[in-house]
Amino acid sequence: MNDLFGSDVSLSLVVATGIVTVLLASALAFATMKTGTGSSTKKSEEPKKEAPGPVDREKFPGGEITVLYGTQTGTAESFARLIEREGAEHGFFVHVIDMEDIQVEEMLDDRYKDKESGNARFFFITSTYGEGEPTDNTVDCVAKLREMANIEVIFEEKKDAEPVEEQKLAGIEYGVFGLGNREYEHYNAIGKFFDYAMERVGASRVVELGLGDDCQDLEGDFETWKDTKFWPTLKKLYIRDAAALNRLEAAPHEELPSCSYAIEVYSNPQDAVDTPLEKVHGSSRHYFSSEDCPISTIRELRSKDDPGSTVHIEIDVSKAGNIDYRTADNLGVLPVNQPAVVENVAHSLGYDLNKIFSLKAAEGHEWHGEPFPMPISVRECLTRYCDLTSAPRRSDLKRLSAYAQDPVDKKALLRMSSKDGKAEYREKITYAHFGLVDVLKMCPSISAPLEHFLSFCPLLQTRFYTISSSSVVHPKSIHLTVSVTEAARKDGTVFKGVCSSHLAGLKPGDTVRVFNRSSTFRLPKDTSIPVIMVGPGTGIAPFRGMLQERDHQKNVKKENVGTGVLYFGCKKRNLDYLYEDELASFRKSGALTTLHLAFSREQSEKVYVQNLLSKNAKDTWALIQQGAHIYVCGGVKMGNDVNDAFKHIASEEGNMAVEEAKEFISKLAKEGRYVQELWA
Ligand SMILES: Cc1cc2nc3c(=O)[nH]c(=O)nc-3n(C[C@H](O)[C@H](O)[C@H](O)COP(=O)(O)OP(=O)(O)OC[C@H]3O[C@@H](n4cnc5c(N)ncnc54)[C@H](O)[C@@H]3O)c2cc1C
Ligand SMILES: NC(=O)c1ccc[n+]([C@@H]2O[C@H](COP(=O)([O-])OP(=O)(O)OC[C@H]3O[C@@H](n4cnc5c(N)ncnc54)[C@H](OP(=O)(O)O)[C@@H]3O)[C@@H](O)[C@H]2O)c1
Ligand SMILES: Cc1cc2nc3c(=O)[nH]c(=O)nc-3n(C[C@H](O)[C@H](O)[C@H](O)COP(=O)(O)O)c2cc1C
Ligand SMILES: *[C@@H]1O[C@H](CO)[C@@H](O)[C@H](O)[C@H]1NC(C)=O
Repeated sequence: MNDLFGSDVSLSLVVATGIVTVLLASALAFATMKTGTGSSTKKSEEPKKEAPGPVDREKFPGGEITVLYGTQTGTAESFARLIEREGAEHGFFVHVIDMEDIQVEEMLDDRYKDKESGNARFFFITSTYGEGEPTDNTVDCVAKLREMANIEVIFEEKKDAEPVEEQKLAGIEYGVFGLGNREYEHYNAIGKFFDYAMERVGASRVVELGLGDDCQDLEGDFETWKDTKFWPTLKKLYIRDAAALNRLEAAPHEELPSCSYAIEVYSNPQDAVDTPLEKVHGSSRHYFSSEDCPISTIRELRSKDDPGSTVHIEIDVSKAGNIDYRTADNLGVLPVNQPAVVENVAHSLGYDLNKIFSLKAAEGHEWHGEPFPMPISVRECLTRYCDLTSAPRRSDLKRLSAYAQDPVDKKALLRMSSKDGKAEYREKITYAHFGLVDVLKMCPSISAPLEHFLSFCPLLQTRFYTISSSSVVHPKSIHLTVSVTEAARKDGTVFKGVCSSHLAGLKPGDTVRVFNRSSTFRLPKDTSIPVIMVGPGTGIAPFRGMLQERDHQKNVKKENVGTGVLYFGCKKRNLDYLYEDELASFRKSGALTTLHLAFSREQSEKVYVQNLLSKNAKDTWALIQQGAHIYVCGGVKMGNDVNDAFKHIASEEGNMAVEEAKEFISKLAKEGRYVQELWA
């Protein structure tokens, strides 16, 4: 193994010599799903591109590199695209591939090699999801690589690892940038996994591992890695001809950014044609595979005196051919932008909302699949597929600056996108809750042709919600418990979260575009096993479904149902005590044995679910000794605090040292007896 950097990167992985365990993560099956516009398609096995011819060495003295991205919400992909755009100025032709579209074994194929040197150079940009798990589009790659590298647990302490005999990926050169968030226990588990596993199977690391932290400055971390590690290393390694480098640096940079799309406009309205899924862009497959389902019920769960809102929604899936669920699964929801937001953007950029168009690859650009169903009207496109309200990244502002006609606008955008402008960016964009729509209003001189706008505007991401009904009790109806995200802005207006606001504004009969996704929350098969459920606020969602199911098992099927304990928390009993009546009836029917309530604001000091857990340490420990399954759902911060409380209980009641208690809880997690679903 010729590792240019040595292994000074700290890793925490366990390597097993035995069998590889099955992945916890949910694999998304796209097979035979109905498209949003009405056709049935299969993800084909071979969406492979033709091997491109050799690239022009004058223009690309570094040759070809391939960037693979693993993403859940698009950030990793946008980083990959940034490298793609910057490639030419550094002397490289960059291919970008969705990890779902490549198999690990294929990485040795000729079509991925730089034609001149014969090198295969892969750079992974991957985020971590769930609890240290791969994103949906990397599940297969991670499983395969785990098997090849003989790695049992992705995120555990590295013991003395036996080397793997077969160096299957010898000859490949690689580098990794991981996206993660330190608030999660298994920080950047997947980025670290790729960096380590690739080395174990014989690949050579040529760029040092980079890690980004989404709770600090993810974009800054990436920028630093890209500009101080990635490009400098690649240039040193692959561009041997110093003259070529000098020519590159002397070359004038283009005035307008080049655009990857070309546009075709139709004079007559046309229906969107059904697109086979293999022609669809990786990260927008849900646009094509989800279904419109009607709302049957919607009601507010908080009292009128509470300024916030949490809504209970029931979605009728009886007519949906491809939506099935199991209790506590997730539902993916496609958000819809408010008409005012769409009109504002069209007005700022001078677009005709009724125009019908299609996109295709511009001359000299690779086509990455259809981003959304086409042909399409500008209105539909901006409404359903463009993210107009999230904070634009600093790199997006830099791109926008190229379209600003007024030097004042241009300068302001460039300033905020620069490293020195981070504070201003935070103040004027992040804290101000400004989205693209607001930036366009702020800089009225921005003018971009539609295909240019669509080439940089991020796609609108799916939001997930934990299903709050039992599939046994409500097989054809999916219930959600949605907390509406809102934040006051300085100018007196209110920022509204795009998806929760859209959902909260629906009426019975309206439809919502959704798809199903599995989760790790499963009740024990043996119904007599005790369960401990911890879910304050909307974290109650999966437990409502699980209690419906336990109720059914006990009172309809007359099964032996074990102890059920729920810890719920909210601000005040008379403000936001969600499902109070239902919880009371579960208590009455025996589905719920004990209900612990943490009202955080009914006394001078805060009382949270974890405080009650600690208070009940003895009973909790007894249940754990009886084999109880523990479930935690809700905010990340709460989840971490609850995790600490459980460790403390294990150490106090089980007489364990701190380290031992930590291991005890990890072991429960590995056995599937401690399951969390946490979101920021
Ligand atoms: C597995 C999973 C299960 C979930 N289950 C549930 C559930 O059962 N119930 C539930 O209510 N939620 C749940 N969520 C959260 C849910 O998916 C959404 O994240 C939530 O509803 C907010 O989405 P939104 O589109 O309304 O808000 P967004 O528009 O995404 O805004 C969300 C936050 O992002 C930030 N933000 C967005 N735009 C800007 C900007 N321009 N400037 C600055 N900050 C900005 C703000 O902090 C804002 O509060 C779950 C999440 C996951 C991952
Ligand atoms: N801006 C708004 O108008 C608004 C309003 C509601 C929700 N939200 C958003 O919606 C999300 C989810 O809301 P939600 O209804 O599920 O929950 P929530 O209403 O924010 O909180 C539910 C309960 O959990 C408590 N809590 C806070 N931090 C905790 C911790 N570290 N450990 C244990 N308990 C903790 C809260 O107490 P305290 O609140 O008393 O600390 C409250 O009693 C929030 O993350 C928030 O971003 C926004
Ligand atoms: C539900 C959820 C779970 C997450 N789990 C982890 C985790 O276990 N470890 C970690 O380092 N980051 C975790 N993250 C943070 C993401 O990796 C981070 O936000 C990243 O920037 C997302 O990139 P993407 O948009 O490419 O998917 C999680 C984020 C979410 C929303
Ligand atoms: C979604 O539901 C369909 C049934 O219509 C099922 O075949 C598929 O496996 C489900 N997907 C997931 C991820 O659970």
